Amino acid sequence: MTATDGAQDVTHEARRRRSFAVISHPDAGKSTLTEALALHARVISEAGAVHGKAGRRGVVSDWMSMEQARGISITSAALQFEYRDCVINLLDTPGHADFSEDTYRVLSAVDSAVMLLDAAKGLEPQTLKLFDVCRHRGIPVLTFINKWDRPGREALELCDELLERIELQPMPLTWPVGVAGQFRGVVDLDDGAFVRYERTAGGATVAPEYRMSPDDAEAEVGEDWTRAVEEAELLTSSDGEFDPTRYEDASATPVLFGAAVLNFGVRRLLDLLIDLAPAPEPRKDADGAPRPLDGEFSAFVFKVQTGMDPAHRDQVAFARVCSGVFERGMVVTNATTKRPFATKYVQQVFGQQRSTMDTAYPGDVIGLVNATALRVGDTLYSGKPAVRFPGLPQFAPAHFAVARPADLSRSKQFRKGVDQLAAEGVVQLLRSDLRGDASPVFAAVGPMQFEVASHRLEHEFSCPVVLDRLPYSAVRRLGDSSQRGIVDAGRRSEVLDRGDGTELALFEDEMSMRVMLRQHPELALESLLAEGD
Ligand code: G4P
Repeated sequence: MTATDGAQDVTHEARRRRSFAVISHPDAGKSTLTEALALHARVISEAGAVHGKAGRRGVVSDWMSMEQARGISITSAALQFEYRDCVINLLDTPGHADFSEDTYRVLSAVDSAVMLLDAAKGLEPQTLKLFDVCRHRGIPVLTFINKWDRPGREALELCDELLERIELQPMPLTWPVGVAGQFRGVVDLDDGAFVRYERTAGGATVAPEYRMSPDDAEAEVGEDWTRAVEEAELLTSSDGEFDPTRYEDASATPVLFGAAVLNFGVRRLLDLLIDLAPAPEPRKDADGAPRPLDGEFSAFVFKVQTGMDPAHRDQVAFARVCSGVFERGMVVTNATTKRPFATKYVQQVFGQQRSTMDTAYPGDVIGLVNATALRVGDTLYSGKPAVRFPGLPQFAPAHFAVARPADLSRSKQFRKGVDQLAAEGVVQLLRSDLRGDASPVFAAVGPMQFEVASHRLEHEFSCPVVLDRLPYSAVRRLGDSSQRGIVDAGRRSEVLDRGDGTELALFEDEMSMRVMLRQHPELALESLLAEGD
């Protein structure tokens, strides 16, 4: 094969990649949707194992339930499967108790997102936080309104919520026929046809779909049909008409209605990902120069996972390929240390598909096993020229705890360990002159990060720690350093410094922050995006 053939091959492979994540609040149906997507792509033959209906087992969900049993997401990072002529990489965004900075970081490794909403609940806190990050990064979002098979809110109301709360214009592509709870199918707003779904036993297999002309639908369905058509028109005629450029520039979101547990609307979502969602684009390096997709191999590490089991202190670094071809065994350079890194042990991740991976292209995720030298944000590359992608940003923390060594004679190990964990992005490290260096404050997006940090300090640095939680829940960036004294003088507020130079003003809650602002209207507090910048 000539070099030109190789470049064409990479470009072709990159173009058929779709790398995305599902952003949702716990219980909206992310696992169920993941399974339904896998079912449609024929990765598994039957859905249902997540929620344990006897006799039905799925490859993907088996793994998930194993993870659930262990309590946290141990190694899953991405599910890869082929659908039509494309390769789909579905990156996992851990939720529930393991919601953490990693969850946000995953969004730096995707090209688009699917926002999954529960029809009865609409936008929920975790979804909003994740959406903030998508918006900040300009990631295009498709919206899937789930659980339409059971009583929920009105479709129009849910669409209004997107516009009003997050200023995201909904562009429905389907519209539900029958109120939530009496779901009969959808109007396909492409051609006005009625798509009727048929239930399968327990939703275990792909739901058959029947298409009907609008006239036939009106005759058969009657009032529900007329109402659905009218409602959809109301929205599409008031700025909600589908326009792919508004999806690409992330100012509007195509909306689909469905029920993941019954596999309703899932095929349409998959097709949309293929037809609409962006393929990998050249990623900009730290100087802003785009790295051509068909250049030499490059990737960046977006997640490092250390085994919680001391007997198996394995560490897997997950990297997203940005350019070139990755081949197992190749020796790459770590741009941070300039040291070579041998990639003999590479896994494709997720479920029983954790086979070794031989080749990967832009958009794919590789799991590098025993990669103790790799840190979140590191760039890997081969050949010349060298490349370094921008480091990953820090995000707005929501949990705080003062850390100190349980045994003061181990202060040296403590300092070393704490610096190491902060460098790896396991927790953020906050300090202040008032508190002094001996008791730094750990800050995290999710409390599980504290567990990981104290576990590692104890087992890797032989330094058990005591963590005292601080009662802060409202965080802002202090806009003017000279006002630090005002916040520090508050009874339950203080300013702490983060390594990136940000001064974080912490308050017990939003209310106490407002009280201080009333007393000191001059106080410059800036909201901290979910993505710290
Ligand atoms: P998550 O990963 O986002 O946390 O959600 P998960 O898929 O675990 O789903 C949460 C619950 O919502 C599950 O019910 C699941 O069956 C249900 N669910 C998901 N999609 C749909 C849908 O389209 N319609 C309806 N009616 N329910 C849906 P569960 O009570 O926790 O479990 P199980 O009783 O189904 O076993």
